[in-house]
Amino acid sequence: MEVLRLTGPCRLNGVVEVRGAKNSVLKLMAATLLAPGRSTIVNVPAILDVTIMVRLLERLGCTIDYDAQAGEVSIDVPAAPGIRADYELVRAMRASISVLGPLVGRMGQAQVALPGGDAIGSRGLDLHEAGLKEMGAEVHLDHGYFVAAAPHGLYGTHFHLDFPSVGATENLVMAAVLADGTTVLDNAAKEPEIVDICTMLVEMGADIRGIGTSQLTISGVSELHPVTHRCVGDRIVAGSWAFAAVITGGSIEVHGAGTELLPHVFEKLETAGAVVERVEAVGGGFRVTGPTRPHSVRISTLPYPGFPTDLQPFAIALNAVADGEGYVTENLFEARWRFVNELARLGAQVSVDGNHALITGVPELSGAEVEASDIRAGAALAIAGLAATGVSEISGVSHIDRGYEFFVDKLKSLGADIERIERATVLDID
Ligand code: UD1
Repeated sequence: MEVLRLTGPCRLNGVVEVRGAKNSVLKLMAATLLAPGRSTIVNVPAILDVTIMVRLLERLGCTIDYDAQAGEVSIDVPAAPGIRADYELVRAMRASISVLGPLVGRMGQAQVALPGGDAIGSRGLDLHEAGLKEMGAEVHLDHGYFVAAAPHGLYGTHFHLDFPSVGATENLVMAAVLADGTTVLDNAAKEPEIVDICTMLVEMGADIRGIGTSQLTISGVSELHPVTHRCVGDRIVAGSWAFAAVITGGSIEVHGAGTELLPHVFEKLETAGAVVERVEAVGGGFRVTGPTRPHSVRISTLPYPGFPTDLQPFAIALNAVADGEGYVTENLFEARWRFVNELARLGAQVSVDGNHALITGVPELSGAEVEASDIRAGAALAIAGLAATGVSEISGVSHIDRGYEFFVDKLKSLGADIERIERATVLDID
């Protein structure tokens, strides 16, 4: 079993580069299916999920050149791509469902395995389904597959999303760009990653108005063309490093994503006692310097521009070492609390009631063996482990690899005592 072995306490200090957003690049890659020919995406992070999306698109018939080091993926889309996303790949990465919209939109049919249970909640697909039906698709479930067919093509409609779902907004926009007529999506998600995808689609020839607002108006066009597009910086990774500076009482300069991508987050860090400065860098930049010990904060996760759910584990970790009592309310994913039990192994005092957590800060956490249950929980546990006294071992490392490129190398460059090791488990012993 592979684990991260780290020794704290340690104040993280230095500069880190952030590349493109995981939650954007995977959808940009899916969007290339909308136009035959070679599209290229630059500023691509070297993360496991990109490799999984490469495999998925290859199975759909694309020819792909992926240079992880250079951060470039070039996708040659055939005239008639395949239409089936297998369970094996969808199970490995839920974002695989983002091929649904492009395939129905362009090929008039798609078969995508249902993602099934997820470590951070049930995460339904009802809005994806309702929107596609409104656009004229026939949708049914068949042996674990979401099967959509629009033999005569999709048509424009007016659809209200009951909740501004990121995934449903993306799928419906990608389905609507080639539909017959105009589609209006009300209460659409407006995360920077949605803006990025809409921007790429417009570069490909799509007609989308209202980008960055909660009403998107998409007038279908007959065809799109391939493009080269630069992926927006990863605000969640950038935010993770900002929290890391405050949790460990260090100072981290981040290049590649600006503070404007994370409204409310920096105000909370300032309330905790941090100093935030803007820094000139390609794609934006900032420096966060933490106090010796942060003050506790009150945080409620909400769709953009609210506090992002993906930074919620870091908010709990911050409160765990803060001076005072902090509160965190999770409004998006009901099961994001698995992380709390692991943090408790480091000595954090957290009590959960429904979707609220009350965290009583302690002066010192102590190193322990913990397990990452998802991408953000894994990274937050590593940062909490670095703030703790003694040795911690974090298992479930593959989760971290799904979202954070060169995680161990970056932490080392910030001064952390951390290594990736193979550890025998009782099951390995004769
Ligand atoms: C995306 C991000 C994820 C982030 C989340 C919210 C990717 C790969 N992942 O996930 O990191 O945490 O946005 O910012 O981009 N829901 C339904 N029915 C639907 C769709 C969603 O009930 O049809 C519910 C989900 O169960 C969940 C909530 O809406 O409780 C949020 O889901 P959504 O915004 O769609 O998030 P994802 O696109 O899955």
